[in-house]
Formats: sequence, C-alpha cells, structure tokens
Amino acid sequence: MIKIARIDGDGIGKEVTEAGVHILNSMDLNIDFIEAEAGRECFDKNGTTIPEETLKIAKKTKATLFGASTSTPGEKSPIITLRQELDVYANLRPVKSFKGVKCLFDDLDFLIVRENTEGLYSRQEDGDEEQAVAKRIITKKASERISKLAFEQAIKRNEDRKEDIEGKPLVTCVHKANVLKKTDGLFKKAFYDVAMNYPDINTNNYFVDATAMYLLTKPQEFDVIVTTNLFGDILSDCAAGLVGGLGLAPSGNIGDKHGLFEPVHGSAPDIAGQNISNPIAMTLSVAMMLDYLKEEYLANNLRIATENVLKKGKVLTPDLGGKNKTMDVANEIIKELELLN
Ligand code: NAI
Ligand code: MG
Repeated sequence: MIKIARIDGDGIGKEVTEAGVHILNSMDLNIDFIEAEAGRECFDKNGTTIPEETLKIAKKTKATLFGASTSTPGEKSPIITLRQELDVYANLRPVKSFKGVKCLFDDLDFLIVRENTEGLYSRQEDGDEEQAVAKRIITKKASERISKLAFEQAIKRNEDRKEDIEGKPLVTCVHKANVLKKTDGLFKKAFYDVAMNYPDINTNNYFVDATAMYLLTKPQEFDVIVTTNLFGDILSDCAAGLVGGLGLAPSGNIGDKHGLFEPVHGSAPDIAGQNISNPIAMTLSVAMMLDYLKEEYLANNLRIATENVLKKGKVLTPDLGGKNKTMDVANEIIKELELLN
C-alpha cells in the first residue's frame, strides 16, 4: 500500500486532482490517498491556508499530489510552504511539444530545473508605505545541490533518449550575475564547481533576460536549464506557452526525502467550476510521481496514453480547441492505457 497525500486546493485544482486520482485508481497500483486541506477555502474555514495537520500528512506520506490554490492576501502560499517544509529543493519542469497540439514550436524537449527553497521566494520581506525590501537569499549549499541534480537529470535524459543524438548533453546555468554580483555570482560559481565533477556534460551560461529571448528564438538549443527560484518560475511559464499552454505543463518537486507533484498552473478562477479544465498537466505530473515511486513502466505508459489522446485530437478540453470536459479527457486517457495493456 502506497500512502499518498492528496491536496486538491481551490478552483480547478479540485477538478484536475479528481481526474488525476481517477486515472491512478484505474491502474494496477495499491494507493491509499490521504486527503488534506490547503488554500483559500481552507483559510475561510480554518483561518489558515495550510493547517499543521496538512504538513504532518505530507511529511509522513511517500509523496504528495497537489492541485492548485487561490492566493489569500496577506497569508502564506500553501505550495511555497510545502516546498520549504518538505525541503523539496528541486522543481523539475519539463517542456515538451506534443504531436497534435498547435504550438509555437513542434520540436522542443527540454527541462527547467528551478531552485525551490530560497532566492527571492525566501519570504523575508520588510517594508512600510515608503519602501519595501525583499531578501534574495542564495546559499552555496542550495546552489550546489540544485546544480548537482541538474547534471544528474541531464545524464538521465541522455540515457532515456531513444534516437542517437549528436553531441553531449548540455546544462545551461541561467543567472544575472553581472548585476546581482554577490547572489548570482555565488550561484554561478557553485554551478561551475559542480560541473567539474561532470566532465562529459557540456555547460554554458546565459543571463536571464537573454534566456527569455532565446526561449523564443532558439529554444531547440536547450537540454537542461538550471536557475534560481523566481527566474525559474517566470521562464517555465514562458516555456509552457511555447508548447501549448499551462494546461499541458507538469512539475515535480523533489528533495532527498519527499516528492511533491503538481501542475504548473494555478486555480484558474476564470474557468473554475465548469469542468472544462485540462487535466493533462496534472496527468503528466502524476506520471512524474510514478517515476518517483519507481513505477517507471506505469509512468511511461501513462505518458504514451496521454500523447495518444493528444495526437488523435478527438477528446480535448477547450484550451486545446476541443469541446470536452475534464473527466472526458481523463476517461479517454484510461481507454488509451487499456489499449497499451
Ligand atoms: P492560472 O494558472 O490559474 O491561469 C492562467 C490562465 O491559464 C487562465 O486563463 C486559465 O484559465 C488558464 N489555465 C490554467 N490552467 C488551465 C488548465 N488546466 N486548463 C485550461 N486552462 C488553464 O494563473 P492565474 O490566473 O495567474 O492565477 C489564478 C490563481 O491561482 C491566483 O490566485 C494565483 O495566485 C493562483 N496560483 C496558484 C498556483 C499554485 O497553487 N501552484 C500557481 C499559480 C497561480
Ligand atoms: Mg508560477
């Protein structure tokens, strides 16, 4: 029995988590979901966006599946609290073009590795009406461990590639060390120190502003990008836009002891309650969770089934030009899974 914490959150977070759990329940797996509250509705009910009980559940289960939450002014963001409390220091955000999906580029396959625990999201802010200051904390320890994880991911991606690709894998460090000399200077130095242990992997580094442009002009060049918290947040939404939007963008937050899996998108109040949210970002996050649980066979099948649904293009939610509901897509993925067995 695998114990998984399930945190639906608000808005479409509930719809896509329901879909993800439905798909998992159709698989040959013995999962015990433990439900926990977080988000705006939780705040209205309990006076906190993330109760201690939720953290306790997330800490004692094998992995956590998180939908999305609506922000509560002046209150802690549950997902950022979870990332910090679980010390899931790496946020993996794959960017992939899928056949059948109209997107800006149809040949992308890269990974953004975002540092998850510090940087401008350290939440050490101070201010009054005249001036406000946010601390941007960068440590050698966090920079080295995220760089190491990025290199390890580059090795794994290289092994997984089916076709022979010329050249070595590439890890790109993204920073703004020309201006943020101390903080990003440290981040960049940590990256190159770690790189010495990986002589077989190519490296380069770009400034974050130039990277924003390269994402539009030569995104095919990227293999693994490693960057600090805020830069990773912004660049990964931008990258999601290259390949069909937030409805398709999954993520996994990985640490030494925990895994936390969530779609990149938020609670989407503009479409919440209509059951038209795209469950694929969540489905692909579920596949990342299955990888983490060492159920690679099921994970790969789930990715193939999802890709088949996209390729066939018959059952899609409105963000991809279809007319179907969230659960229609989930059921179609289950049908495709059955065809693979
Ligand atoms: P959002 O990601 O919720 O939505 C942005 C746009 O993408 C909207 O037009 C939405 O309809 C569309 N979209 C997102 N996911 C979709 C899906 N699965 N299917 C179809 N369309 C989808 O971002 P937004 O509007 O900036 O934020 C809404 C709320 O979510 C805010 O309160 C924000 O703070 C919160 N948020 C929470 C996150 C989390 O819990 N991890 C992450 C990002 C935002
Ligand atoms: Mg974001």
